[in-house]
Amino acid sequence: MKGIILAGGLGKRLYPLTKISNKHLLPVYNKPMIYYPIQTLVDAGIKDILVVTGGNHAGEFLRLLGNGHQFGLKHINYTYQEGEGGIAQALGLAEHFADNGKVVVILGDNIIEEDIKKAVEDFKKQPAGAKILIKKVPDPERFGVVEFGRRGRISKIVEKPKKPKSDFIVTGIYMYDNKVFDIIKTLKPSGRGELEITDVNNAYLEKRELTFSVLKGWWTDSGTFDSLLRATNLVAKKLKKIKN
Ligand code: G1P
Repeated sequence: MKGIILAGGLGKRLYPLTKISNKHLLPVYNKPMIYYPIQTLVDAGIKDILVVTGGNHAGEFLRLLGNGHQFGLKHINYTYQEGEGGIAQALGLAEHFADNGKVVVILGDNIIEEDIKKAVEDFKKQPAGAKILIKKVPDPERFGVVEFGRRGRISKIVEKPKKPKSDFIVTGIYMYDNKVFDIIKTLKPSGRGELEITDVNNAYLEKRELTFSVLKGWWTDSGTFDSLLRATNLVAKKLKKIKN
């Protein structure tokens, strides 16, 4: 399976840190943020990777990552997202790369403690559809929130609800079959003017083709001052635990 890292956007929530850099190049403890999602894919056995970036500092990704030798890769693919059209629009730019196959997608600011090997293996066996990784968090209103129906099934995903109906949120790790690109073409911009990945996931849900598993270990995004600090602290703690 191929992997796609979405690292575009203007990182407005981290301004002025992102005035002269891209969010995904900022440090999280001892590495640039984008190193973590790349490592997550590599650890899951994914070697064919596309980085979708954008904004004013896209060239720096090539200087930083090159061909990905530091991750044991032979080559990294890059593409450029113009403007801020949202996560689903960025993913739409990867259609040529996916080449009708299944893909694992990870947001460039998502950092995890453990690995996603098992979920990726399960999705390889899933005949069609999509799979999301969900996680219980203390601040669900900041994310895509999972609502459950009968027999523990997901009934709906709501993007940043004011009154979340559960503490489970959709992390920025998604797996899709090749229908995702047709779904993206049917989407309309949301209130914030973006094509929402939550609408993609709800489209799979309507077809009863969305599976999920709960991510083990800690998970965090790192796109706000508080979550960036949290990510740095969690990574530092993890590295110190490994050393001792
Ligand atoms: C995005 C998604 C949201 C998801 C989150 C995970 O939010 O829209 O559904 O829960 O990533 O990091 P954003 O970072 O665009 O606010």
